[in-house]
Amino acid sequence: MARILITSAIPYINGIKHLGNLVGSQLPADLYARYARARGHEVMFICATDEHGTPAELAAAKAGKPVADYCAEMHGVQKELAAGFRLSFDHFGRSSSARNNALTQHFAKALGENGLIGEVAERQVFSVADNRFLPDRYIEGTCPNCGYDKARGDQCENCTKQLDPTDLIDPRSAISGSTDLEVRETRHLYLRQRSLKGEIAAWIDGKTDWPILTTSIAKKWLNDGEGLQDRGITRDLAWGVPVQFPGAPWQGMEGKVFYVWFDAPIEYISATAEWADATGQGDSAWQRWWRTDMGAADVRYVQFMGKDNVPFHTLSFPATIIGSREPWKLVDYIKSFNYLNYDGGQFSTSQGRGVFMDQALSILPADYWRWWLLSHAPENSDAEFTWENFQASVNKDLADVLGNFVSRVTKFCRAKFAETVPGGGAFDDRALALIAELETRTRAYEGHMEAIDIRKAAGELRGIWTLGNEYLQSAAPWSVHKTDPEAAAAMVRLGLNLIRLYAVLSAPFIPDAAARMLAAMHCEDGAWPGPVAEALTALPPGHPFTTPDVLFAKIADEEREDWAKRFSGVRA
Ligand code: MF3
Ligand code: ZN
Repeated sequence: MARILITSAIPYINGIKHLGNLVGSQLPADLYARYARARGHEVMFICATDEHGTPAELAAAKAGKPVADYCAEMHGVQKELAAGFRLSFDHFGRSSSARNNALTQHFAKALGENGLIGEVAERQVFSVADNRFLPDRYIEGTCPNCGYDKARGDQCENCTKQLDPTDLIDPRSAISGSTDLEVRETRHLYLRQRSLKGEIAAWIDGKTDWPILTTSIAKKWLNDGEGLQDRGITRDLAWGVPVQFPGAPWQGMEGKVFYVWFDAPIEYISATAEWADATGQGDSAWQRWWRTDMGAADVRYVQFMGKDNVPFHTLSFPATIIGSREPWKLVDYIKSFNYLNYDGGQFSTSQGRGVFMDQALSILPADYWRWWLLSHAPENSDAEFTWENFQASVNKDLADVLGNFVSRVTKFCRAKFAETVPGGGAFDDRALALIAELETRTRAYEGHMEAIDIRKAAGELRGIWTLGNEYLQSAAPWSVHKTDPEAAAAMVRLGLNLIRLYAVLSAPFIPDAAARMLAAMHCEDGAWPGPVAEALTALPPGHPFTTPDVLFAKIADEEREDWAKRFSGVRA
């Protein structure tokens, strides 16, 4: 048994997330957390809302609400939707928490005292029309790196390059659209990342097991062009963690806050502290996950995120941690994802394009989405959601293969025997061959889950389901029963035990259906299978069960067409 710390990139507070966001961090993190728990590991699974910075301020302004109220409200909405998708966070925190305020200031102070923070009189874009500075997302323009014309002041969404507002070509205010901009001087704190470059590069070089997507992005921003640059970590904004605080090693920074990307990853730690607070525990409860001097040295820390987040997690956040010269836990493994596209274009929050979490749950239960999204996770390249593909996967994998198997076995048993596991007979060669094949595939499935190869794991699971159907088809207990009821009983007994095995193996992907399968088998023993032959004896002769209702309804063509039409435009 190991201790595994799992964090998902924390979603911006500015509205409900779309399915592309979900499959890029929170959902795969949940899959891994559920699997790790099922294997008996001690898991701490953390997520939160990312509440500071320009995304929050702009969204609150648009909603006509004070930013604090807006954030409190949207946190509740996101938390509820996460529960709807069965995301099993140990804690879903808030980056605006008192814990994160304090810890962010603590890190800044440590970095300052270590000589890693410099004051820079900086030239920043000021909007005359808006009478304010325009940091980050308050400004838009053309990316100097790739030419994308909707790049934001902090990052280009298209090529992932981290930007400064003054880098943009043809800049305009995101508030008013005004191009009446001038550059004015203001003082800011800079994190001296350049002096940490050697240490960060060595640390990344040691991560030989990381996915190529992660290391290629990290190395690109580490070595390309001028490489790792010092970075402004403060902003002229009202909403955020105050830069001027008692004991701060600088002066005259009133009215400024830390840059959202400085405090957001610190919230991974703070949210764990929020968890300890919420569960009435002391500091050691969270410190044993995060402080290597408090027991975290033997924790395995795994992060999940979309590719646009990789530079911040491989360079910026490690710079904060390493530069503090305090014994904080660094990430051990970063699983990153490409983008999921929507029906020939991009999912887009700002444009309201695609299917959003609330909409998805309003038309189908979580398991349907979980299965499709995870089995099509954009691991090795961008992936695309189409309604045809969604319908085909759901109908085939969930309804025809898994659902149908459960229904055939239970209904046949009820009709010919009773709603109890039948005794008598013995496993024939076909059954023994099936068990051998299941043994191989179950162990392969475990290997893919451990490696967080999500598509491969889904493929293996689908294969495991298919084996059951093929067995049933060729063993044909319904005809065997006419001449040899004992032989048919053995087949059905195997089938009923398979339902239980499938429930356990499938639970990380489709937790609700798995729970229903276990409940139908009157079984509380969801223990992960050791040798499959043994696991298939869990339900002994005479054990009662209840024939369940349809596990997965098929998606009809009319429904698919209706949804495709309903979600073809932009969200109001
Ligand atoms: N809010 C960011 C996004 O959605 C992710 C922040 S992850 C953290 O892209 F590391 F900062 F927490
Ligand atoms: Zn670009």
